[in-house]
Amino acid sequence: MRTSLTILGLESSCDDTAAAVVQLRNGAPHILSSVVHGQSALHAAYGGVVPEIAARAHAEKLDSCVEQALKQADLGFSDLDAIAVTAGPGLIGGVLSGVMCAKGLAAATGLPLVGVNHLAGHALTPRLTDGITYPYLVLLVSGGHCQFLVVRGCADYTRLGGTIDDAPGEAFDKTARLLGLPQPGGPLVERAAKTGNAARFGFPRPLLDRPGCDMSFSGLKTAVLRARDDLVAEQGGLTRADQADLSAGFQAAVAEVLAEKTRRALTLYLEDVPEAPVLAVAGGVAANRTIRVELETVAAEMGVAFTAPPLALCTDNAAMIAYAGAELFRAGKQDDMTLAARPRWPLDQGSPALLGSGKKGAKA
Ligand code: KG4
Ligand code: ZN
Repeated sequence: MRTSLTILGLESSCDDTAAAVVQLRNGAPHILSSVVHGQSALHAAYGGVVPEIAARAHAEKLDSCVEQALKQADLGFSDLDAIAVTAGPGLIGGVLSGVMCAKGLAAATGLPLVGVNHLAGHALTPRLTDGITYPYLVLLVSGGHCQFLVVRGCADYTRLGGTIDDAPGEAFDKTARLLGLPQPGGPLVERAAKTGNAARFGFPRPLLDRPGCDMSFSGLKTAVLRARDDLVAEQGGLTRADQADLSAGFQAAVAEVLAEKTRRALTLYLEDVPEAPVLAVAGGVAANRTIRVELETVAAEMGVAFTAPPLALCTDNAAMIAYAGAELFRAGKQDDMTLAARPRWPLDQGSPALLGSGKKGAKA
């Protein structure tokens, strides 16, 4: 087996254009560079990601992100072994921009092309950042996704449950919009919640009364809307304290639902795989400290090791795509010029599809 593998990764499935170089040395990953060009400013006026604007901006910025990633890694194309690219799921225009760029680079350089599932990038991040071994349970929680996955290999995932409607990140973003905070809303709701009273509004804990690991966040979003409308009707607007209390109440509800569903998912997982008691969390919402602490507490209660990536690798980036691509390539996966961009692409092909489509694209 080769001792070193150097992969360029591209990511453009939502509102971050990213390129990164990751090297596997004797199997151990090293991030040589990771460039992320966010598009928040372009979408700010619209209160959410506009797919057409996102796709055009990705097409414009991908080349310079690749150039920067190679420069920061101090490498040229001749030093690479392959090019990995997010081929879905996500906003189709953005995914297409990335796939076309990667195909162009592969054709020009003769390098192998590897299409990567964006969710695999998130799900494998705990291996990139903490070197954890298979198998493990991951809670993937982001702007477009929310699911528990048993990860047994880079192409072997079993879903134990997931959201039946909105993803938590989507609900954080919607809550921010309702409170007049800018996008992406997660970090701002988290900040506002710091000084808030989480008990002031009795927000619901959806689906906790039902067995299993499925989750729902759209009713919670509606509860925030109602509470806000009541306050506006009574007082003519929201005070800072109201903003803080609504944020804290909403965040506490999300954290409690995730914690309880994690308890159940861990119970199921441990029945099946008692020899590998490891819980990982990944995706943009994993950057939330309250949620991380809740999950860590559940893991500790159940005697399970807990791992969460550093904040910059929780949200979308290309290092996770390069790393997933490296694992797949090492396992013999390679694509050709027929590689397709896929708006939907469930990791666990065997589990029933989740319905619906959110702001961040089709749900897997
Ligand atoms: O993984 P990600 O970058 O993109 C997707 O694949 O969806 O996740 C972005 C989502 C956004 O909805 C954002 O509001 C949320 O992650 N997010 C947070 C925090 N940081 C980012 N949500 C809650 N608290 C945070 N600190
Ligand atoms: Zn993501």
